Amino acid sequence: MPLKLTNFIGYSVLAAGFAAGHASAASLDPMHPWLADSEKRVEDKPSPDDYPEFTLKDQMRAMDALAALRKQQRLDGLRKKTRPADWIAIAFHGELYDANLDRIEPDTETLMTMQESLFRTLYEQADPDKLYEVYGGDVSELFYAKGLDRHAALAVRIAAVSALLELADEKLRHRYDWRHRLIRREIGRLIKWHDIEINPTIRDLIVRWRIPHDWLFPLPVDNQYVQHCRDQGVPIPPDFPDSRWTSQGTLAFSFIGQVSPTEVFAYEDPHVPGVCIALPRTGGGSYSDGGSVSLLGIICQSETTGKACFWDNIDADGQRITGTDVHLDIDTIKNGSNLAETCTNCHRGKNAFLIHPGTALDLGRSGAPGGPYDTDPSVRYTPIGQAHWSNPGPLAMPTPAAGESACDACHEIADTASGYCNSVLRPAAQTTMPPFGSPVGWPAPGSDYATHIGFLDGRCP
Ligand code: HEC
Ligand code: HEC
Repeated sequence: MPLKLTNFIGYSVLAAGFAAGHASAASLDPMHPWLADSEKRVEDKPSPDDYPEFTLKDQMRAMDALAALRKQQRLDGLRKKTRPADWIAIAFHGELYDANLDRIEPDTETLMTMQESLFRTLYEQADPDKLYEVYGGDVSELFYAKGLDRHAALAVRIAAVSALLELADEKLRHRYDWRHRLIRREIGRLIKWHDIEINPTIRDLIVRWRIPHDWLFPLPVDNQYVQHCRDQGVPIPPDFPDSRWTSQGTLAFSFIGQVSPTEVFAYEDPHVPGVCIALPRTGGGSYSDGGSVSLLGIICQSETTGKACFWDNIDADGQRITGTDVHLDIDTIKNGSNLAETCTNCHRGKNAFLIHPGTALDLGRSGAPGGPYDTDPSVRYTPIGQAHWSNPGPLAMPTPAAGESACDACHEIADTASGYCNSVLRPAAQTTMPPFGSPVGWPAPGSDYATHIGFLDGRCP
């Protein structure tokens, strides 16, 4: 379909949109300054250099507008109205958030509540005969096993939920598997695995219920991950920091919530086509100015095979590596094979990256330091990670109503998931998309993209 793109060269439109429309009036009513010119159609996709620069000032305004919108769209009493099994809406770099983007404190009480709700939800839908056939008993006896203190009970219950998930239908698995992994990770932070291993009651339960080791205990570090990535044509990054990482400048966007601006780093292997991006988020001040690192994710993607690998600043013992002089050893930090967080809940689409056009993340621009880089692989990307990591889609989008435009005119839209909806699609529609003109908003009735946003909204939880 021809791409309706007017004001193609009008970079000022976006700035005007934010200055006039968004920053002052906190509402993001779509304004269509380009409509006057709506007869003009552009057949070819814009190239990276055609996109307007998204200045830091405008990014910060957009973040303020996003915060205001989120405040407006908050659901009061969310946790009372939602099953605890569904409380986790987003997991982001080690933290859990509900759909209001309020952090969930993973204390013993909260974990027990979420875990029990998860068990009940799955148990209600399970076939008792099948459970009996496979496990030789009623799994609720395992879940409510007696003679255990709270931490030991939390641990054993991981196995009981795993047992139910194993037999659940695909829809339930899709909905709860990733949440179960996160609950598992948080439990792992509270308990001492050694105590669990030597607890005689737990030993008996493991034998009686034939609990496989990996249903309960943490995944071992996969020493083969880096080699596996290399074999698949993925560039392997140097450790961080390293002079081969090139700073791309500052990014003020953070779709998950307002944090201080961050610095973007890129790495290109002279012999392996593709690119790596590292995003050191600090509590304040950029990394190069001595800011203290709290989060540091790395993604590398092959340009030829479309395979992508993931790393996070967590050591083999599960401790986050933070501070002003972090050193990440790529061979030993947690990676796609053993991270509890499912990076692909958000990182999906044609390429593994989530790029806000016109910002420091937009490495395809000819002005990108050391670039331009090739962020778009010749084959749709596939993650190298655990069995449940995937890049579903692309979505078959409906035909827009007459006169409307298509969100997939310039890029595909990946299939939806809780994290992808809440912290990628919706905030994009509210701040960055479409890139020319004002953001369309979400929901967006009566707008130029009403059909597509309505369709996506309908597919989002
Ligand atoms: C809840 C959604 C979400 C999850 C889960 C998530 N990310 Fe991200 N990530 C984002 C968004 C959105 C951006 C773009 C910058 C921004 O707005 O925060 C991003 C940016 C990045 C970047 C910079 C390159 C790029 O794609 O823009 C890296 C590197 C990264 N994430 C690594 C990771 C790793 C590693 C994991 C898994 C441990 C992960 N992310 C999980 C949402 C997510
Ligand atoms: C004029 C072309 C164009 C149109 C139309 C467009 N996009 Fe984009 N969009 C881009 C480009 C370019 C990127 C950066 C993609 C990349 O390099 O990976 C992007 C990135 C995104 C991203 C990920 C990063 C970010 O900034 O959030 C999302 C989500 C997205 N678009 C959603 C949408 C939606 C929803 C619509 C419809 C309202 C839309 N796009 C319309 C060009 C477009």
